[in-house]
Amino acid sequence: MSDYVLVTGGAGYIGSHSVLALMEAGYNPIVLDNFSNSSKESITGIGKIYGNTPIVIEGDVGNSSLVMDIFSNYDVNSVLHFSGLKSVEESMADPLKYYIENVGSSLSLLRTMQAASIHTIIFSSSATVYDPESQVPYTENSPTNPINPYGHTKLCIEQILQGLVSSNPKWRVGILRYFNPVGAHPSGHIGEDPKQTPNNLMPLLMQTAIGRKEKLLIFGDDYDTPDGTCIRDYIHVLDLARGHLSALSYLERHQGLHIWNLGTGTGTSIKELVDKVREVTGVEIKTEITSRRLGDSSKAVADPEKAKSELSWHPEYSIGNMCADHWNWQRQNPDGYQ
Ligand code: NAD
Ligand code: UFG
Repeated sequence: MSDYVLVTGGAGYIGSHSVLALMEAGYNPIVLDNFSNSSKESITGIGKIYGNTPIVIEGDVGNSSLVMDIFSNYDVNSVLHFSGLKSVEESMADPLKYYIENVGSSLSLLRTMQAASIHTIIFSSSATVYDPESQVPYTENSPTNPINPYGHTKLCIEQILQGLVSSNPKWRVGILRYFNPVGAHPSGHIGEDPKQTPNNLMPLLMQTAIGRKEKLLIFGDDYDTPDGTCIRDYIHVLDLARGHLSALSYLERHQGLHIWNLGTGTGTSIKELVDKVREVTGVEIKTEITSRRLGDSSKAVADPEKAKSELSWHPEYSIGNMCADHWNWQRQNPDGYQ
């Protein structure tokens, strides 16, 4: 197989693990990344694991002449579109930035793809598109109603993709709604290292375990859940990366737009996750219960049956594996990529 796959945001957390999976499966990924939230060390890490690094082009996805040059220079058949901004909190403080960056650059990418007659794309969507009031587990048909601008940008891009497919049957679109990605490659050569201060639970838990933070704040223990803390569906980033390969192979055989949840279907509460991290690390992690965080839903759990039956994709890693691999990454790289 010598197909080129353009991977926007391929140096980032999920992108780097997916680029590795593509290379291992015989694809030729081309990483397009402006490194606004990633490090070139992730590419070096891929090289350490695989023995070879992918083609890397530093630049912005919204730069249509650069993207057209890539399409002219390489025989690109499909695009994995990871790039974008992802902080819910920041999106509430600066919504325009999110609409411009996420929706604006996706529009530019799609227009360039259309001009180059490239019609296959897999888009990184999110569980945040679902209505937090609806019943869990969420199926792909559960009602959508994002409650923050970040989630709105994801749903908006999904709708733009729907419009494209309706306008031209040549399009092959895979929308992957990720639940809560955690973990790292077991080698410890690639992992999660955002440039901004993390506000997701797992990186903060790991920073507490390694001693960079004194304690973990738990945002509320008065939710309608068995132990009162919020429940999420954590999924190993390697399972997520494999999901992209399965989706790509499905799109090679099917036109149209297809949506799949990528989650395990198992919910874990914050207290359960803290206990698991204590067990895996052997560190007594201090926690403090504080008030609820604005915009949090009590439960977000996937129904992954559609991905399992249509894509023959099954998550392989347990919550223990996720914590162990994330801890291994954190211990080998206490300050992230150097
Ligand atoms: P990440 O920030 O690690 O990766 C995004 C990458 O895109 C980074 O390398 C960044 O430098 C790059 N980038 C950003 N804007 C760019 C631009 N205009 N041009 C070129 N490169 C650009 O994030 P991630 O966790 O790997 O997430 C990947 C995708 O998955 C995002 O679209 C995110 O919204 C989505 N997602 C993430 C999560 C999560 O919890 N990590 C959950 C659901 C969905
Ligand atoms: N939490 C704490 N303390 C912290 C950080 C988080 O108690 O210091 C809690 C949150 O309140 C929430 C849970 O841990 O109940 C998980 O929070 P995260 O921020 O890790 O994850 P979210 O479920 O809020 O959102 C994440 C990503 C989104 C993505 C979504 C998909 O941030 O980008 O998962 O479900 F879209």
